[in-house]
Amino acid sequence: MAENTNELMDKLVALCKRRGFIFQSSEIYGGINGFWDYGPLGVELKRNVKAAWWEDVVRKRDDVVAVDCSIIMNPKVWEASGHVAGFTDPLIDCKKCKSRYRADKVFGVSARDGENVILSASVESDDEDIARQTAAASANSKTRRRLEKHGDKLQWQVFRADKAPEGAAAACPACGGELTEARKFNMMFKTFVGAMEDSTSVAYLRPETAQGIFANYKNVLDTSRIKLPFGIAQIGKAFRNEINPRNFTFRSREFEQMEIEFFCHPDEAEKWYKYWRKTRYNWYVEHGLTSSKLHLRDHEAAELSHYSTATADVEYEFPFGLAELEGIANRTNFDLTKHQEFSGRDMTYYDDETKERFIPYVIEPSGGVDRATLAFLCEAYCEDEAPDEKGVMQQRIVMKLHPRLAPIKVAVFPLVKKEGMPEIAQKIHKAVQASGLVSFYDEKGAVGRRYRRQDEAGTPFCVTVDGQTLEDQTVTVRDRDSLEQQRIGADKVVEFIKERIS
Ligand code: GAP
Repeated sequence: MAENTNELMDKLVALCKRRGFIFQSSEIYGGINGFWDYGPLGVELKRNVKAAWWEDVVRKRDDVVAVDCSIIMNPKVWEASGHVAGFTDPLIDCKKCKSRYRADKVFGVSARDGENVILSASVESDDEDIARQTAAASANSKTRRRLEKHGDKLQWQVFRADKAPEGAAAACPACGGELTEARKFNMMFKTFVGAMEDSTSVAYLRPETAQGIFANYKNVLDTSRIKLPFGIAQIGKAFRNEINPRNFTFRSREFEQMEIEFFCHPDEAEKWYKYWRKTRYNWYVEHGLTSSKLHLRDHEAAELSHYSTATADVEYEFPFGLAELEGIANRTNFDLTKHQEFSGRDMTYYDDETKERFIPYVIEPSGGVDRATLAFLCEAYCEDEAPDEKGVMQQRIVMKLHPRLAPIKVAVFPLVKKEGMPEIAQKIHKAVQASGLVSFYDEKGAVGRRYRRQDEAGTPFCVTVDGQTLEDQTVTVRDRDSLEQQRIGADKVVEFIKERIS
């Protein structure tokens, strides 16, 4: 593990670029803040993250179906969902240098209140939403928060009892200048549909995939004849004009979500909430995020959105701090009720057996594909030592990705480029490809260096064809993590790999 967290993040970002996991978008023009491209290894990794989620929450279940909705929807959707009025970040500007910040990033104050050290406090506001949002980013599982009334203004305070206060800033961090009041800034990207660019043609790039699911809830119900309880899943792009994109891909302006809206009877909502909360946490652990770095944080009552009765965040200890990977929320019947109201369409469910009609409750596990991918990359990054061809220990960088997620599953090498070894290695490589697994053939350079390249790519197995292969048709398989080598039949490679990655 790298010595300090910033250094680890710098090394990871450098590796992602060097090995083709993640590039800055439009880098040749100086890039664009908050947008990222996935390279040849990154796209395979990200596809594997999505495929693992899809297999586990859609294909292996009888109670979840999926949809793939358009990114631009009728703008009424976003009025009904509350995004037009309320999908905002609190924003402040420096009057002197014109820098722009999210209010929670500069309104840090430190004070002592009895035993409690107040780490930060939100901007004072008469709008509870603004006060709540400005405090949100500085809270985590180790802090507590409360709503304070100062005269007729509200303020959220984030505090913990055991830590000395950190520096405070209520002026522009760049120039010390005076700051404006916090204002609401809508984070939806606007566009125009059709030739006219006026208020009648305004549309939005979806800020979440969830609303496409709610808008199609009746279609799915009517066409698939599925019965409650059931879920509708979707993976797709979402767009948010984040004021402050940061921490590599963690907070981007264009990203992918993987969301399930799980519809159930109101009386069963609590049971299903608990089920999904646990299931989704376990999914990350099973894919390699050690549970010591993974936290399931229940929101305090005061933190909940007005329509939610319970929410939990799966949080991961990134090198830059503890941050949310996925939220699991009991959204009650809020969304369907709103869509019924705004569209005039009936969103009720009729239960044939109980003869009951009601608007279902919804449990929503909502994860970010890019955040999950980044967490898997952070967890995988490892520096250790491995012997070279002469048996001398050398430093190596290895990405210990879960085999199910690794971009390349197996690399196949001929030890030397002669004696028929390349032909045998090519045959194995083609057999692995034909089985549907990603294989990489490499015959260039010393075998130790070829291993090293695959370690950085996170390839769990390297198969080498050598002199002994010519005699007994066996090959060596090297394990990326243990460095152990074992001989297996050349015709058993596909079977061997499949067993270990599933
Ligand atoms: N439908 C509920 C919803 O969208 P959210 O907490 O705003 O909830 C869900 O987003 C997930 O989407 C987050 O847990 C995170 O993984 C991902 N996400 C949200 N904003 C993001 C951003 N700016 N960049 C990358 N991922 C983001």
